[in-house]
Amino acid sequence: MTGLLGIENLTREEVQAILDRARDFQPGEGHGFRRFDLLRGRMVVNLFFEASTRTRTSFEIAAKRLGADAVSITAQASSVAKGESLVDTLNTLAAMRPDAIIMRHAASGAPHFLQRHLETPIINAGDGTHEHPTQALLDARTILDRGASLENLRVAIIGDIAHSRVARSNVYLLSKFGARIVLCGPASLLPVELKEIAPGVTLTTDMNEAIAGADVIMMLRVQFERQHDAPFPADEYFRFYGLRPEHLAMARPEVMVMHPGPINRGREISSEVADSQRSVILSQVENGISVRMAVLERVLGGAIN
Ligand code: CP
Repeated sequence: MTGLLGIENLTREEVQAILDRARDFQPGEGHGFRRFDLLRGRMVVNLFFEASTRTRTSFEIAAKRLGADAVSITAQASSVAKGESLVDTLNTLAAMRPDAIIMRHAASGAPHFLQRHLETPIINAGDGTHEHPTQALLDARTILDRGASLENLRVAIIGDIAHSRVARSNVYLLSKFGARIVLCGPASLLPVELKEIAPGVTLTTDMNEAIAGADVIMMLRVQFERQHDAPFPADEYFRFYGLRPEHLAMARPEVMVMHPGPINRGREISSEVADSQRSVILSQVENGISVRMAVLERVLGGAIN
């Protein structure tokens, strides 16, 4: 069995299969998520070395909705806090024979390194500034649910691009389908090499240019926890890179405003926009469950196509 470490090495067909399967798990209008027995008797461990509300909770709900057992551990509650190494912690958990380990870690590449030493499949729930594959999958599911096609979609990703695993996974995913992606942020948070990671990517420091004609505006939080130097005052950042109602008029009329969360109101997005009809932020959260059900089924239950 293989885990899911990133979007980069998936084929377009593999991504499409997960997105299609996620639709089967979405709740009907006015209903909750259905229960299935597809993974009855299986067990997953959620191992989170960084804070999380959405990803950890939705993986746990997804596992339970498929009939699997789920155990969640945080770094503070694990023996890592007593000096145990990451490899020893993972080997210890693997000895308890879970069917998969879902892992978030501040170090880019941590799950890839551990997967080389472990037979238990690892699902990457975010590794440093590298990838957050299930976030990109749920973002794509949300875009498709609004009737948009990923081909030729114009997507503006705005904010702290340098530290964003969400931006990277979205670039890998969207470019497989021929989307045109504009990465935008202050020059200090916009590495020029990102233009080369996938086809269809352009960069700009001008927010108006990024938004012009956009079908999707994806806002990102400034990740102060990953920065050594204080970058800029909050009000100055909001003036140049905060999404406000007047920006929406520059995009396409049916533009979708997305944000992986957690959102910082008044820093990268105004409350008026976050709570507007154009915002699909809570649909993204909801799709986190169906997409993670599809991923768990794929990893624990074998390939679905
Ligand atoms: N989008 C996301 O990963 O949110 P959490 O940090 O709350 O899991």
